[in-house]
Amino acid sequence: NLSNKTDVTIGVLVPAISNPFFSEFLQSIENYSDPKTHVMMIGLDGDRGQLYSAIEGLLSQGIDGLIVAVAVDGYPEVNALLKENLIPYIVLDQNNTKDSDFIAADDFHGGQLAAQYLCSLGHEKISIVAANSEATTYNLTVRLNGFLETCRDSGIKKENIQIIKTQFTKHGGQKTAAAIIAFRPTAIFTLSDELAIGVLGGLNDYGFKVPDDFSLIGYDDTDYAEFMNPKLTTIRQPIPLLAKYALEMLKNRMINPKIKEQIRTVDVELIIRDSCKKR
Ligand code: RIB
Repeated sequence: NLSNKTDVTIGVLVPAISNPFFSEFLQSIENYSDPKTHVMMIGLDGDRGQLYSAIEGLLSQGIDGLIVAVAVDGYPEVNALLKENLIPYIVLDQNNTKDSDFIAADDFHGGQLAAQYLCSLGHEKISIVAANSEATTYNLTVRLNGFLETCRDSGIKKENIQIIKTQFTKHGGQKTAAAIIAFRPTAIFTLSDELAIGVLGGLNDYGFKVPDDFSLIGYDDTDYAEFMNPKLTTIRQPIPLLAKYALEMLKNRMINPKIKEQIRTVDVELIIRDSCKKR
């Protein structure tokens, strides 16, 4: 019986440790874990094919619970592996598969906030830098929908929106610069701060400046945002809180395996810095 165990070991699986969102998430998990909770962390660096064997490996180490920030819903065999082993787990940002405990920030609202801010500055032609299908998760789709719906409600024409799908990394962002420049928007929304870092670098390589040539708004508010030049305007996800609640919900599931699915959403916030200006 897990509730009688004194020490517990939990596994945490994230896609890419190099993304500051996930490194901050892992750090927060470590910070909020009590001394009797041992944490084993694995970064899969974008290759979801490793997921099954990573979970098998953690199970063979005898973990008591798992926090998964890598998509599991498209992988019935992974779900089955977790269920067969009766391992308590919680998913972060992934599809709400109904039978999994689920935590995320309010992505729809985050997308809305980003679009409302750009519209309030008079932008009417916008490029969106999103993830390619390999990296797209449930919450990124919700985020994008919040953004698009707000643009539509503000009267922005469909042909004035460009959606570029790229690898969900700094390099992926950097590579979109040529397409953005060719489209000539006045503002850019990236679905993560990491993409914004790459886009900014790519635009600089072509001699374009943010915010004079293009306004740029990111997503996450990782600690890189305020060290960028210009400092990045972005949507803040409360990363420490996501980690704290993920741990609490997992512990709860470990103690009470029979309770119904736990679903928790935390709010997001617009953080205005220097990377956007009036059109
Ligand atoms: O930067 C990583 C992104 O992917 C974050 O926005 C987080 O929500 C995750 O799903």
